[in-house]
Amino acid sequence: MAATPTADVPTTMTPLRFALSKGRIFDDTLPLLESIGLVPAEHPSTSRKLRIPSTDGRVEFLIVRASDVPTYVQHGGAELGVVGKDVLSEHGGEGLLEPLDLGIATCRLMVAGPADVAPSELPARPRIATKFPASARKHFAASGRQVELVKLYGSMELAPLVGLADLIVDVVDTGSTLKANGLEPIELIAKISARLVVNRAAMKVRHAELSDIVSQLDAVCTPSA
Ligand code: ATP
Ligand code: PRP
Repeated sequence: MAATPTADVPTTMTPLRFALSKGRIFDDTLPLLESIGLVPAEHPSTSRKLRIPSTDGRVEFLIVRASDVPTYVQHGGAELGVVGKDVLSEHGGEGLLEPLDLGIATCRLMVAGPADVAPSELPARPRIATKFPASARKHFAASGRQVELVKLYGSMELAPLVGLADLIVDVVDTGSTLKANGLEPIELIAKISARLVVNRAAMKVRHAELSDIVSQLDAVCTPSA
């Protein structure tokens, strides 16, 4: 009788499970995947399915929240995935290999605040609204600054406008969301791009299949500067 695949023990009997989030990451990753022959049989924006096979049967795409990709790959729910470096740093990367900077979904993780408030006007222990509390804590601690963190899940730019926070830590691309809300960038924390992540144990057990995908993607992506 064939062994039943489990989340923790990858087998060579099944397609590789590839965790992807809808939206920006999917849209930017799709052309790279297509160029190495990994084409989803259905588009996640038009399908309600959360498991979508590739047309060649090599992988099965798992459609998950962007912030859940590292968790799926860490615990072996997926053998590989694509995730923003912002989300990956916040997760910590335990149990994950990060073989490739795909050079897509590029942006910057920044501290930002109201354009009309000078740094000297901020309280000694400013309140920081962010979806990335671990990264924010580490950034401020590195320069010995005390802060109070307010965890949010989106629309961070609103927090200073309604007195919920003094500053925010969020990703910035064009800067238009900051500008539209009367905020401006203050400090760069990190340059961000999407990364290919692979489950550490799966890389041993299914080395040939995974290193094939890594080297094919390596040949078509342009890592960010
Ligand atoms: P979740 O559903 O888990 O809250 P999300 O809504 O942040 O995730 P996306 O907006 O699709 O998901 O962002 C996915 C990734 O794309 C982010 O982790 C980040 O690396 C990158 N990103 C976010 N905003 C931008 C942007 N404005 N420009 C370029 N890349 C971005
Ligand atoms: C992201 C981020 C900023 C915005 C920055 O939000 O949280 O709000 O993009 O991009 P910009 O500098 O080009 O304006 P997103 O559009 O993903 O919405 P979200 O609040 O759902 O994360």
